[in-house]
Amino acid sequence: MAGRILIIADGPAALSYAPELITRLRQKKYTVQVAPTAYDGPSALAFVSELAWATISGHPCKAIEKLDAEAFRQQDLILLAPVSPQVLEVFRRGKALAYLQEAGKPVLAVPARLPDAVDEDPVLFQTQMPSRSRLCLGETPLELGAMGALKITPTETLLHFVDAALSKNDLQGKSALITAGPTAEDLDPVRYLTNRSTGKMGVALAIAAAVRGAEVHLIHGPLQTTLPELPNLHAISVRSAAQMHQAVVDHWHHLDFAILAAAVADFTPDHYVPQKIKKIDGQSLILHLLRTPDILAELGSREDHPYLVGFAAESDDVEINAINKLRKKRCDLICANDIRKPGCGFATDTNQITLYSPDEAPMQLPLKDKAEVAHDILNHIAKHLVK
Ligand code: C5P
Repeated sequence: MAGRILIIADGPAALSYAPELITRLRQKKYTVQVAPTAYDGPSALAFVSELAWATISGHPCKAIEKLDAEAFRQQDLILLAPVSPQVLEVFRRGKALAYLQEAGKPVLAVPARLPDAVDEDPVLFQTQMPSRSRLCLGETPLELGAMGALKITPTETLLHFVDAALSKNDLQGKSALITAGPTAEDLDPVRYLTNRSTGKMGVALAIAAAVRGAEVHLIHGPLQTTLPELPNLHAISVRSAAQMHQAVVDHWHHLDFAILAAAVADFTPDHYVPQKIKKIDGQSLILHLLRTPDILAELGSREDHPYLVGFAAESDDVEINAINKLRKKRCDLICANDIRKPGCGFATDTNQITLYSPDEAPMQLPLKDKAEVAHDILNHIAKHLVK
């Protein structure tokens, strides 16, 4: 995503928090400029020099107290990281608040001490910031040695808030259901059957849809990734294929689109053994496995299903299998990938997929980061939802 961000940094948090944030924002191709606070006391400039800010951000840095109206106008987003009582004081005393209001750009504010910092001046934040502004909350304690601990939004969550503030919001008002991850089929209290899925693709889709404004229900099996706290991303954790099926049925109403990206186990033990199964010398163990419900096929068979997207992770005959799945499971879109290709299998950060739909020629997407693949898939869905 592209966009210009002005980061207003303050206090000791600027030292331990802002550099990582700026680096990550630049990796995401945002243009970042820093305006540190420069008052007498523990301001951002007291902790990090102008030269250091300019080096980290790749742009000349000017203290917030010295910024002019044009500096605010040039931005797409103003990020108060963090919004401390001292920053609010700088806004109140100088011309920064007038410039910011006149520029009308969205403001994202990270409270420094939850939620006291903003409680100290809720009126300033709630009534005087431009309308698309919001607070970003989180609870990771940030240890600052002798200065104590600040509670601050985790960088990863904050990055999603930034994406959301700058996104085209084309899925605003849409309701989505997404499945992700493997399922685990318990055999006894110790053992279970599962697969290599980590849930990365489904989680990337859920985050991207939430960032673009959709109300997302993410039904996921055991994940190896952590989920960010986003206000419109609702995670429902399940374990088995049967539980995933039930959770999908429970949330199957008033949806605009559904993406079933979970690697659901096809088989489950015919019964659960409540005590750990003992091995007996010389004896093998034969498991009897039953088929699990095919959630995607069941949803596709419903007359009034929303725009329905399935995945096909194949090791051979990708095209034939994808087209068969499209027809058999009555989907609107199948995202197929060849798991033999480098960078396309389970547990990778990248994927290369081809989109198959009933009325269009297959569309091959380049090998990309899963977050970018997620946006490509959502572009396709968004295009169909406006039709
Ligand atoms: O038939 P196959 O498992 O390859 O189909 C993959 C697609 O079907 C994926 O979208 C997956 O989430 C979905 N699926 C499902 N329930 C199952 C098996 C697969 O929803 N029991």
